[in-house]
Amino acid sequence: MISSDLKFKSLTFADLSAILELDQACFGGLWTLEGYQRELDSPNSELLGIFSPVASPKLLAMGCFWSILEEAHITILAVHPQYHRQGLGQALLHFLLKTASDRGLERATLEVRASNLAAISLYQKFGFKTAGRRRRYYQDNGEDALVLWLPDLQMVSH
Ligand SMILES: CC(C)(COP(=O)(O)OP(=O)(O)OC[C@H]1O[C@@H](n2cnc3c(N)ncnc32)[C@H](O)[C@@H]1OP(=O)(O)O)[C@@H](O)C(=O)NCCC(=O)NCCS
Repeated sequence: MISSDLKFKSLTFADLSAILELDQACFGGLWTLEGYQRELDSPNSELLGIFSPVASPKLLAMGCFWSILEEAHITILAVHPQYHRQGLGQALLHFLLKTASDRGLERATLEVRASNLAAISLYQKFGFKTAGRRRRYYQDNGEDALVLWLPDLQMVSH
């Protein structure tokens, strides 16, 4: 089990190697080093992580959203596969939505693979609703994306 003294932090350049390691473990290389550097540099991007002082690796989960007008566009939500089903995904999503709300954002949106029932179930718990479907959105396997929306960030973030 993971310890209770988890640290919720904004990620920085000092965390880059841990970020790449987690990206590799969760997605097999979704974004490159340059991609993450761009996110860390961008004032409109928020990259957040959950650390454990004792676990190995220490960075257990990370998420990212872009601020576009008054919307938070969630681009990454990832928990290390060794730590699934221990509440970290839920804690991370809450942290992202709270941070977005603190930035004055009003709504949240994201795209998710139609087959990703674990993530869809998590988003539904937070009140996300399906707003549309992008056909054959993912190039690797031609899978559809569901477009999910959360109309009111205030409702979940406190
Ligand atoms: C989706 C993901 C972030 C969930 O993280 P997690 O830490 O395992 O999730 P939690 O333990 O906080 O679970 C919260 C809820 O998510 C849903 N959930 C998580 N894993 C699930 C699974 N394998 N099957 C069904 N529902 C699941 C459930 O609703 C769960 O609530 P419950 O425990 O009361 O049933 C994690 O599976 C992950 O990193 N997946 C790979 C990356 C990814 O697909 N990200 C989303 C891209 S949009």
